[in-house]
Amino acid sequence: MKKVAILGSTGSVGRNTINVIKNLDDYEIFALYAGNNISLLIKQAEEFNPLYVGTFFRENEKKLDDMVGGRWRTLFGIEGASELAANNEIDAIVIASAGSLTYEILIKALENGKRVATANKETIVAYSTLLKKKLPDMPGKLIPVDSEHSAIYQSLLGANRSDIRRVILPASGGPFNNRESLDGITAREALNHPTWQMGKKITIDSATLMNKALEVIEASVLFNLSPDEIEVVIHPQSIVHGMVEYKDGSVIAQLSKPDMKIPIQFALTAPEHVNSPAPKLVISDVEALTFHKVDEKKFPLIPLAYYVLGEGGTLPAVFVAADEVAVSAFLSGKIKFREIMDIVREVTESHSLIEDPGVEDIINAEEWAFSKARELIE
Ligand SMILES: NC(=O)c1ccc[n+]([C@@H]2O[C@H](COP(=O)([O-])OP(=O)(O)OC[C@H]3O[C@@H](n4cnc5c(N)ncnc54)[C@H](OP(=O)(O)O)[C@@H]3O)[C@@H](O)[C@H]2O)c1
Repeated sequence: MKKVAILGSTGSVGRNTINVIKNLDDYEIFALYAGNNISLLIKQAEEFNPLYVGTFFRENEKKLDDMVGGRWRTLFGIEGASELAANNEIDAIVIASAGSLTYEILIKALENGKRVATANKETIVAYSTLLKKKLPDMPGKLIPVDSEHSAIYQSLLGANRSDIRRVILPASGGPFNNRESLDGITAREALNHPTWQMGKKITIDSATLMNKALEVIEASVLFNLSPDEIEVVIHPQSIVHGMVEYKDGSVIAQLSKPDMKIPIQFALTAPEHVNSPAPKLVISDVEALTFHKVDEKKFPLIPLAYYVLGEGGTLPAVFVAADEVAVSAFLSGKIKFREIMDIVREVTESHSLIEDPGVEDIINAEEWAFSKARELIE
């Protein structure tokens, strides 16, 4: 039996991961880690009886201990999750949690030779400068869960790095791709994604195309690519999830129905493709696959991502942090939809870059960006 720890088990990717593992014969859940949704965490533990349950937030310690009542071992905070990353019994860790707190956990798990299936892109982007240096020497395997990066990973299997011309990241375009003006958009409209069911933050990020902007930087870290080796195209059907163009002009793509169970499962079983309960693509039912360029005037976070990637250093962390504050302000009605993009741009442009940062510099840059974004909102 392969033993899996799920960080962020109560979220959209976390719940899908549980459904995937339910259907895999030789995988079992060893640990479940949540944020604030302790009631759901307990329900999940009652169903799957892991060895450990935990929460990222120390303020939930008493509540969790009370509800666990000694039935499972408990862990708390980043330190608790880091213990899991070093636990010899665990084969794979799924990072399905939000936020950019999981860098130490990711590194520890990879140092300990684990398979790390990561959905979380905020950590990969915020720590991109450090990860680019560290990843080549890690004994563990980092496998993307994000559907686009999973598609690229699959399209690269067996390839030589030197044969790649570029990777192509498709974006659905979100709910406002065909809308002329981004004025007057409500949270309800922005949360209504046309093709994917996801958590609130990533759904808003998909509407501003910040999600794709983050994915550009994520791709550069995961596949060691320069900005000019990454292209974004709008593909409203969300059937083609990622493509690799090779030097001879061949383009290899991965297609499937838009269902996160497929990339989550592949991140656990790669390079094997085993049976899945996910709905299957009937290719003769696909009437059209269309692609077009991004309107960069309407969605300025895409060109900004290329600038942020080119600058590197502490700037990606600032980009992520500014967006986190802006999305949360939009969801609580403090700012307009369009202002999310304005705030991310203003914070990013006013940052004093540290080119070769350490962990502390990244944390400080995030803190700076949080307060700068809050200041602009007020
Ligand atoms: N949803 C998708 O289809 C999808 C696809 C590709 C990539 N991703 C990425 O996967 C990650 C999770 O997305 P999601 O849509 O599953 O989010 P979600 O539904 O909001 O779930 C987030 C999970 O993380 C926990 N959490 C919340 N804030 C946290 C913090 N500051 N630190 C640590 N944990 C925290 C939550 O705990 P509680 O609920 O217990 O509070 C929950 O378990 C994100 O990085 C997202 O960009 C998601």
